[in-house]
Amino acid sequence: MRHFWYTKGTGRTVLKLIFCFVTVVYLTFAFEKSFRLPEEYIRQDSTEPPLSLLWASEFKSQTGFGSEAWSFVQGLLHYPVKLRLWHIGTEPWDKKAKVLSDERSNLLQRLWCGKVCSSTKLSPEEKVDFLVLHSVPPDWISPLKECGLCKKAKIKVGRAMFETTGVPQEWVKLLNSTVDEIWVPSQFHKKTFSNNGVVKEKIRVVPQPIDHESFGTLPIQQRASLLGNCANRFVFLSIFKWEVRKGVDILLKAYMQEFSAEDNVCLLLLTRGRGLSANEIKQRVMKFLSKNNINSSNLPQLEVFEPNKKDMLNLASLYVSVDAFVLPTRGEGWGRPIMEAMACGTPVIATNWSGQTEYLNEKTGFPIPVEQVVTYAEGPGFAELYRDELVISAASFKNQLWAKPSEQKFRSLMRWVFKNPSIAKKVALRGRKEILTKFSPRVVASMVVRRLLELKDATMKVA
Ligand SMILES: *[C@@H]1O[C@H](CO)[C@@H](O)[C@H](O)[C@H]1NC(C)=O
Ligand SMILES: *[C@@H]1O[C@H](CO)[C@@H](O)[C@H](O)[C@H]1NC(C)=O
Ligand SMILES: *[C@@H]1O[C@H](CO)[C@@H](O)[C@H](O)[C@H]1NC(C)=O
Repeated sequence: MRHFWYTKGTGRTVLKLIFCFVTVVYLTFAFEKSFRLPEEYIRQDSTEPPLSLLWASEFKSQTGFGSEAWSFVQGLLHYPVKLRLWHIGTEPWDKKAKVLSDERSNLLQRLWCGKVCSSTKLSPEEKVDFLVLHSVPPDWISPLKECGLCKKAKIKVGRAMFETTGVPQEWVKLLNSTVDEIWVPSQFHKKTFSNNGVVKEKIRVVPQPIDHESFGTLPIQQRASLLGNCANRFVFLSIFKWEVRKGVDILLKAYMQEFSAEDNVCLLLLTRGRGLSANEIKQRVMKFLSKNNINSSNLPQLEVFEPNKKDMLNLASLYVSVDAFVLPTRGEGWGRPIMEAMACGTPVIATNWSGQTEYLNEKTGFPIPVEQVVTYAEGPGFAELYRDELVISAASFKNQLWAKPSEQKFRSLMRWVFKNPSIAKKVALRGRKEILTKFSPRVVASMVVRRLLELKDATMKVA
């Protein structure tokens, strides 16, 4: 049932092969069309690339921003851009942890901005057209003071997003005053940012590219070894930071109430556990369930990956090994795990709100309808489930509005996907195609390059 496309006899196989061939041809042409730059921008006569760009982001950290920034770099390498990279952000750089692959370490070394960024005394020849500041706006202040080349950039672009209907007032000030243009990932943000007083004319939508190296080509499945106790079951995978925003409470309640020990299902959690072990997480879950009067005697299976195991896992292998990805989140900037799961052709059930609405819809996955947009509030069992994290969530999201996904609809969607795996897979393969065409690094980088050339032409005309 799981590998339905291998089991229906050779006639089907031939049809599938033809289908694959047609898809590959189609995708090749779709890429071609979208990443060719207008002729006038390719200045054959010059030895210097037409654009120079300094990209400052969390390159050395394992954050969403870092991962996003690397996928932009991956795309920009295809274009005639003099690209330099600089690390910003408050996330500490753990030199001992192997944060970057060898390939990325080498690339970072090759493109590293070095002296001209770390010094403020630069010779007049040191120039750069563009600076992209790509992290939370408060982290833009120090490079604008301390990084020599950052200060000299002719045009400054800020990359930002937020997960609720609000934008912190401190950010609005910085967005208005420190950068010339603001790139947000989705129409959702274009609306929320301008509703919150960010200068509307500065805002442009530039989506997030998929990390094509990791998720664009499917690895061989190693289902049994990866999934352990879940291997012979229908597996719902969820990947998230352990916080209220991710809706861990909604996920647990819905799954535990919809299914029982009689269902051949398994919920597999992969989380950065704030120092907790898998066992401690399971204990918290049991306390949370008891606070919600959920009888523990006949529960469906739950497995938790040991949090420190995350770095050793090949995520793409994990995504392709499971049967569905679930995330009833309250709000996302973009939702990279949602996109990654889709890129791997895994059926996705996630909240129909915030950044992911840019790519998740009923044609590409299974959006969970939103009941209401509500303010931050704590529910039964929150203290047991989130404990120390509650303080942080309350401080960051008090007075903000975010989604309340329908628990009932979420349950029905999980049940439906469990009962109809082959139809769900078809939807997921359509989602995969859309992610790999629309959000491939080359395609998104072509939008970036085109915009920068437009800006450069406009300023040159003025000058
Ligand atoms: C940002 O700029 C807009 C338009 O000039 C203005 O209405 C708004 O008050 C500014 N907000 C802040 C916090 O500076
Ligand atoms: C929990 O369910 C079991 C049967 O599934 C039942 O025997 C038991 O009484 C229930 N416990 C509570 C507290 O409701
Ligand atoms: C998702 O949200 C969009 C926009 O609000 C709406 O048009 C669409 O019907 C929603 N879909 C679901 C399944 O809730």
